Amino acid sequence: MRQPAGKLLLFGATGDLSQRMLLPSLYGLHADGLLPDGLTITCTARSEYDDAGFRGFARESLEKFLPADRKDDSAVASFLERVFYQRLDASKTEGFAALAEKLGDISDGLAIFLSTAPSLFGPTIKGLQSAGLTGDNVRIGLEKPLGVDLASSRIVNDIVAEAFPEDRTFRIDHYLGKETVQNILALRFGNSLFEPVWNAQGIENVQITVSETVGLEGRAGYYDDVGALRDMVQNHMLQLLALIAMEPPARFDGTSVRDEKVKVLRSLRPIAGADVPNLTVTGQYGGGAVKGEIVRSYDTDLEKSSDTETFVAIKAHVDNWRWHGVPFYLRTGKRLAERRSEIVITFKPVPHSIFEDRGGALKPNVLVIRLQPEEYIQLLVMAKEPGLDRDGIHLKEVPLNLSLEHEFAGSRRRIAYERLFLDLIEGDPTLFVRRDEVEAQWAWIDAIREGWKTGNVKPKPYASGSWGPSAAIALTERDGVTWNE
Ligand code: BG6
Repeated sequence: MRQPAGKLLLFGATGDLSQRMLLPSLYGLHADGLLPDGLTITCTARSEYDDAGFRGFARESLEKFLPADRKDDSAVASFLERVFYQRLDASKTEGFAALAEKLGDISDGLAIFLSTAPSLFGPTIKGLQSAGLTGDNVRIGLEKPLGVDLASSRIVNDIVAEAFPEDRTFRIDHYLGKETVQNILALRFGNSLFEPVWNAQGIENVQITVSETVGLEGRAGYYDDVGALRDMVQNHMLQLLALIAMEPPARFDGTSVRDEKVKVLRSLRPIAGADVPNLTVTGQYGGGAVKGEIVRSYDTDLEKSSDTETFVAIKAHVDNWRWHGVPFYLRTGKRLAERRSEIVITFKPVPHSIFEDRGGALKPNVLVIRLQPEEYIQLLVMAKEPGLDRDGIHLKEVPLNLSLEHEFAGSRRRIAYERLFLDLIEGDPTLFVRRDEVEAQWAWIDAIREGWKTGNVKPKPYASGSWGPSAAIALTERDGVTWNE
């Protein structure tokens, strides 16, 4: 049994992520009695607060971002008693001595969470080293982005590795903290039903969609530098793909699970050179209406013209025995018709049908794993339509539904960071991304970006509120496949 850390140190505590997700997550764990007794949470940022001032700030954030049924004045008050604040300019080493003093005795272990601009990672690590805050009982959690390509991610990882060996480095991909993402593992490896057909013999194709209705959300500076490929595909979508495609790990632990994921990521067929325009589609949202609300184009949001993609669709392959010839279609974008994250797995048709196919009614089985906004697993199967038809049996596609919300109605839907904070505090690395995974992800992404550059590929405009540029539809239609919409 690992020893939970006695203290938590949060960098970037006044930032947007902290207000929306991190403070509410820590509060959620506290309110449910899941934080270790006596764990203190020391927050740092550049703003001039003392403990009381920051507690006021944190209280306001909780007020604003906690769902109404989670607000409990006495739980908020006892949570804030755990919270302390130290003003710090992380770009200067000097302030770290005062931070160490504020933290006091860390012999019970310290968990650090860095939610700052990546340009501050280097100075922060130096500062932590100078103040003796990198010892054997200290681990560090790192929020993305970890670099913008393979080369820069190696630099960041090298800087971190100078102070924290891999087993004390916890790279966050918040998708791995989502219940439904972990449910992919439960579905695949907690049931015997799917695994025998979970391969090229049983599966025709896999679609992974992460569509968003939001636009830039005040993050124009960051987003315009990275675009959809690096913001979403490099991390969340490739992690989803790896969980779907990996071999069964021998155990549910950090080494076994990540060993299997990295094998998948390294087996991704490189998309490079002339293949890039054929196998990828990029788009940028124009004006339009999303869910009835008129929204502006990306350029207007940005107040300048830009070639950054806000949509990407890719046809990928995993080059190994299990997945030979099975396309993995990925697509993600902002300002699309719906907010939806899902994995859709289409199985092979029956080898020989004894039923007449009336008007295309005969369909292959489809497994839909909906991650959000609803959480369900649905298996589409063929069933007999009731009736005494004299011309034979009539079949219809019907869903076998497992609504996780309904089935587990008594349990609260948690923010992904709750799980990740707890694992960081307790030192369980299973749901964090290992360096070799991140590097394999970047290597694959870099080749695509290089192809866009050399092929002068520019994003195609698409109307806000649509499903992206028509070329994305053509990407699957030419294989006779339709996106699940
Ligand atoms: C983040 C991206 O990692 O994930 C954002 O930077 C995106 O651009 C977000 O909106 C999506 O996360 P979720 O949990 O809302 O699907």
